[in-house]
Amino acid sequence: MQQQALHLMSVEGKERRTGYIAIASGKGGVGKTLITINAGRILSKNRYRVLIVDGDLGLSNVHIMLGITPPKNLYNFFMGEVPLEEVVVPVEENLAFISSGSGVRELVNLPPAQLKHLIMKLQEYAERNYDWVIFDTPPGIHSDTTALVSSSHIPIVLTTPEPTSIADAYGLIKVLNLEEKVPQFYLLVNKVSSQEEGKRVFEGIRVVCEKFTNAEVLYLGSIRYDPKIIRKIINQTPFSDELTRELTQALSKLPLSIKPPSYSFWEKLLLKLRRSS
Ligand SMILES: Nc1ncnc2c1ncn2[C@@H]1O[C@H](COP(=O)(O)OP(=O)(O)OP(=O)(O)O)[C@@H](O)[C@H]1O
Ligand SMILES: [Mg+2]
Repeated sequence: MQQQALHLMSVEGKERRTGYIAIASGKGGVGKTLITINAGRILSKNRYRVLIVDGDLGLSNVHIMLGITPPKNLYNFFMGEVPLEEVVVPVEENLAFISSGSGVRELVNLPPAQLKHLIMKLQEYAERNYDWVIFDTPPGIHSDTTALVSSSHIPIVLTTPEPTSIADAYGLIKVLNLEEKVPQFYLLVNKVSSQEEGKRVFEGIRVVCEKFTNAEVLYLGSIRYDPKIIRKIINQTPFSDELTRELTQALSKLPLSIKPPSYSFWEKLLLKLRRSS
């Protein structure tokens, strides 16, 4: 792994809380699933224990890209059919995956006492086993997505240089900031032709957000368009040295060594899902 990886190194033995990262976009097809998998892999290779959850509520492609078919998902756990351990699929060392199925949405329909118990189990399980939980989310401003992103400690918004993708990234940030009071976002620009192009896209979004919202948008970095990545996805090994290098550099700008806030991600998520149901 490259030099930059050292900046990501987790500090062994240091007491820390599980942090939650959400990867979101206004427009679909910008590379969320690809970036989620690669980010999880990079962090896990830097000795963080990582759990990837497809927050895609039934329509995620994480398992397809990884070539893994999880036999059970969060829905089965919420329905009491299987213990949580059976839902977790190991991917490689320090990296695991949970498919949410329609599990997250189903949460709101459960009786309060059962729900509290399940939330506590999820919380404890994550605290015991993982440093970071990364959610791959569906595109757009559906209330389930905004609930997931606004409950996370680190919201990453992904866009490409396409004008429609930029407009929708701004739309997502605006809703999350003005309606869900998310103060800060990390912007990652994917499929760029050059780092300069990525920087220009970021500047454009930052300026509009400064003018029309209260959001602070921070530049995480850019990932180059790589025509070879499609072949790798077909072969279910969606990794490349170039992508790893660029994404490692971007991830090193995240506050990974700072202890995440003490609120319960799962309780916050539940409150938000309930409010919108
Ligand atoms: N840096 C890149 N270079 C080339 N192709 C890319 C790059 N990033 C993503 N792609 C391609 O873009 C397509 C969409 O990627 P992906 O499925 O990760 O997007 P997504 O945002 O998760 O989509 P959805 O919104 O449908 O969930 C894939 O075909 C993938 O190969
Ligand atoms: Mg996806």
